[in-house]
Amino acid sequence: MKLPYAEPYKVKMVESIKRSTLEQRKKWIKKAHYNLFNLSSDKVFIDLLTDSGTGAMSDQQWSALMSGDESYAGSKSFLKLKKTVNKITGYKYFLPTHQGRAAENVLFSVLVKEGNIIPGNSHFDTTKGHIEFRKATAVDCSIDEAFNTTAQHPFKGNIDPKKLKKVFDDNPDNIPFVVFTITCNTSGGQPVSIENIKAVSKLCKTYNIPLIFDAARFAENAYFIKKREKGYENTSIKKIAKEMFYYGDGMTMSAKKDGLVNMGGFIALNNEEVYKQAAIYNIMYEGFLTYGGMNGRDMAALAVGLDEATEFDYLESRIEQVAYLGEKLIEYGVPVLQPIGGHAVFLDANKFVPTIPREEYRAQALAIELYIVGGIRGVEIGTVLADRDPFTRKNRYPELELVRLAIPRRTYSLNHMKYIAAVLKNIYDSRDQAKSGYTIIDEAPIMRHFTVKFKKN
Ligand code: F0G
Repeated sequence: MKLPYAEPYKVKMVESIKRSTLEQRKKWIKKAHYNLFNLSSDKVFIDLLTDSGTGAMSDQQWSALMSGDESYAGSKSFLKLKKTVNKITGYKYFLPTHQGRAAENVLFSVLVKEGNIIPGNSHFDTTKGHIEFRKATAVDCSIDEAFNTTAQHPFKGNIDPKKLKKVFDDNPDNIPFVVFTITCNTSGGQPVSIENIKAVSKLCKTYNIPLIFDAARFAENAYFIKKREKGYENTSIKKIAKEMFYYGDGMTMSAKKDGLVNMGGFIALNNEEVYKQAAIYNIMYEGFLTYGGMNGRDMAALAVGLDEATEFDYLESRIEQVAYLGEKLIEYGVPVLQPIGGHAVFLDANKFVPTIPREEYRAQALAIELYIVGGIRGVEIGTVLADRDPFTRKNRYPELELVRLAIPRRTYSLNHMKYIAAVLKNIYDSRDQAKSGYTIIDEAPIMRHFTVKFKKN
């Protein structure tokens, strides 16, 4: 009998989470104006709002905290982290930042000019935000399969080299770099293959355009390569990660994901000139070069976290836990985005509750129902998130209406996954009764999802 995987850790400390009643949750969510961001965490039983900064650190990381060197300049923890980043990525220059978007802010301050085009594979919101804030344009060159929720492509995060070449040809001397997000959060935590990275890298070199990774979930990407790409079955995760980075020129990193810490980020690159200019912005926006927005102890914990996150056994238990939830839902007939991504399961609200009109925010309605029935907090990735058209002020209706269930790392058990699946099955079984959704009664002009208020129809 083939033995199943099992978590390569045991529990040393537990954190209580509170159960509540259906009646309590109905009251609380109404008081929160049906916005899940307005709920205090003690009113949530299982929190799947994000996998960012919500994971559990290991005993090794907690003990590394005690060794943190808080010197303003020349911190030993900085030197150790720099060495680890160099070992894992191969990149020579390193700048710590307080989180991923801060790394984007610093690097883009050097590289992005008004009118520039920055191609990539479905840029993450903050990445796009930092590009558009500088009056430049992000162009999505994802493969067509990326947005077909049931297409069984093993590497839906891939860039289409033909689309990319066209963007290169149409915009001579106006592309400062390409962003390659590994795994691609926006298309559902979908991975990118080494073959595709190589092809994109080759094209970039031909046109003399740098390739920058948005590497928040690079270790999860490496795991998928090992499992799905021919020729990598026997290659270690660390080797695969290094190979991925070898084909690029640098990276921005939100360490809150595959750094296994609660806060932190960095830039790593090979180009000395870009590093020198970025270093100035880093000092201005983040902090001196040897801490850049992080405590010494946080850098110490991150060095350990990067090492742990690139170990096969950890990654197997992490990704297979997410896959377990996804497969249970598929077994129950619940419509989910497939294949299951690395960090989250995405519910397809268009197929789940087509009975709720789109104008009444069906994915938001599903996320609210999931909270009311099970105390589970996911997040809407649909019309609410898509905001209004800035000119017409009409709602933008994206192709997909999703609810993201992001799974924090090393935090919940398989029983929690079973509970989530059972709650969703119950909701799915009574889906025909869902006829109406919600109306917005108050919203901000941009990024409304954080503060929007609804009333129930
Ligand atoms: N890039 C990707 C691919 C991300 O998923 C995120 C954050 C960032 C950059 C920004 O990093 O939060 O450290 O500033 N994603 C979180 C999420 C917020 O919930 O998916 P940050």
